[in-house]
Parts: sequence; structure tokens; C-alpha cells
Amino acid sequence: MIRKCLFPAAGYGTRFLPATKSMPKEMLPIVNKPLIQYGVEEARDAGLQHMAIVTGRGKRALEDHFDISYELEHQIRGTDKENFLNGTRELMDTCTFSYTRQVEMKGLGHAILSGRSLIGDEPFAVVLADDLCLNLDGDGVLTQMIKLYKQFRCSIVAIQEVPMDQTSKYGIIAGEQIREGIYRVNSMVEKPQPEDAPSNLAIIGRYILTADIFDLIEDTEPGKGGEIQITDALMKQAQNGCVLAYKFQGTRFDCGGAEGYIAATNFCYESLYKQGL
Ligand code: UTP
Repeated sequence: MIRKCLFPAAGYGTRFLPATKSMPKEMLPIVNKPLIQYGVEEARDAGLQHMAIVTGRGKRALEDHFDISYELEHQIRGTDKENFLNGTRELMDTCTFSYTRQVEMKGLGHAILSGRSLIGDEPFAVVLADDLCLNLDGDGVLTQMIKLYKQFRCSIVAIQEVPMDQTSKYGIIAGEQIREGIYRVNSMVEKPQPEDAPSNLAIIGRYILTADIFDLIEDTEPGKGGEIQITDALMKQAQNGCVLAYKFQGTRFDCGGAEGYIAATNFCYESLYKQGL
């Protein structure tokens, strides 16, 4: 079964400069909690216990976040502020955290390959923490995808419909619908212009990958933007066997840019923070 979740978090976060000049994008707070923690909570809620984080230079804050801060904790011990750390503490008690560095930022595919030593030879989940996915009325997105994996045992990408004029921001799939909201992928294009896009079904930052993806990434040449694209490796997997695309239940915020970040902040403030959740 799936036990591990990989968090590629080595990107430069250029859309959020200067905030991300010396701070990882994944540490940006949505109200009072950093993006990475939302991602880890989603993975933990899906039953995953081993968090594997791919970091890069200047990303030490990610490691420190899931560690004890003796001085601070001593300072607030016995006060009501102690409760603010309960969520983080619970994750530290129930999950393991391991880290590796992507030395050169050669794209998402390359970042996933950098995590190979932490994952080994087993299927795993991938969360891009700057895509915040929430489903307040039911299962989280990774939980939904793991249920699907149990039935199909192949790689799965989460998708959503996007306006046609935004296809150039995403990997876009085409495929045959085999069930309501589930497609068997037969084509995948990285960031196509609208006229070249095979559909408006865009891949977002949640994946279940089978371990053969690593060899496929190793054989993948740099693609769009000179980066090693995960979509190119997934396309080979789709041709060799099967990749599914899943239209998830819930809401996704692209917190890598200001608009999605503000929308996520407003949503979480109203729906979670003010409700004491
Ligand atoms: P993005 O496309 O959002 O790139 O990466 P980015 O560099 O983080 O942000 P911008 O576009 O410059 O603002 C998607 C995910 O892949 C990770 C990022 O950390 C993010 O979670 N990534 C990307 C890596 O880990 N390594 C890379 O070389 C590229």
C-alpha cells in the first residue's frame, strides 16, 4: 500500500518574489499555518506516515518547522499559546520526516527523481504544497486518490477543468472517460497554447506514482523550458500501460501566485480559522 508522500519543494518561487527571496514558498502562511503543513495534514489524513521532502538551498525553515523549538516551547509552556503548536506537534509525533536536496533546479520531474532514495521501490503520493486542496465536506483529495489507486493500481494525476485561455500554465491531458470523472490518459502536453491543447483538463499538484516512474524520468530528456518534465515521463507510462486522470472533489487554490494565495487566505479565514478549526 501507499505509505510515503513526496513533497517537491525546491523551486525558486519566482512568482512570489521578493517574499520568497530567502524563505521557501511552502512556508508562506495561509492565515497562521504554512502551506507545507496543510499538505502534510492532507497526506496524514490519507493514512500516509512517511513524509519525504525535496528541498534546495535556502530551505532550512522547512526542516525547522517539523522539529522541536526548545527555547520557544519553554517560553510558552503553561500558557494558552501552547495550543497553537498542538497541530504541528501531533504531526511530528505521528509521522516521520526525511529530507533530500535537489542540487540543481531542473524541473519537477528532476525534483521527483531527486527523491528516489527516500521513496525506494514502492508506489507513492506527490503533493505540490503550493497547490492548496481542501474538501471540507468529505475526503481530502489524496484520500480520494488513494481509494482509486486501490482499485486500479496505476499512476493517477488529479485534474480540474480550466478556462481555455489558461492551458499554457498547466500540463493538459486528453483521454477516454471510463467512469464519471475518471479518464484513461492517452495524451499529455506540457503548457500548450490554447490552440494546441487537447482539452481543458489540467493537471494540478497531486499525483499517485508507481515506482517505475523513476527509470522513466531518468530516460527523459529536458523538455519545455529546458526542464525535465514529469508529464513527459507520465506520457511514456501511459503508452506502456495505464495512467488515470481524476477530477477530484473539492477546491484547489494556486497559492504560488498572489490571486490564489489571497483567495485561499480569505477562504481559510472564514471557513476554518474563524470556526476554530
Ligand atoms: P512551479 O512551477 O510552481 O515552480 O513548481 P516554482 O519555481 O516553485 O515557482 P515559480 O513558477 O518560479 O513562481 C511546481 C512545484 O515543483 C517544485 C516547486 O517547489 C513546486 O512545488 N519544483 C519545481 C522543484 O522542487 N524543483 C524544480 O526544479 C522545479
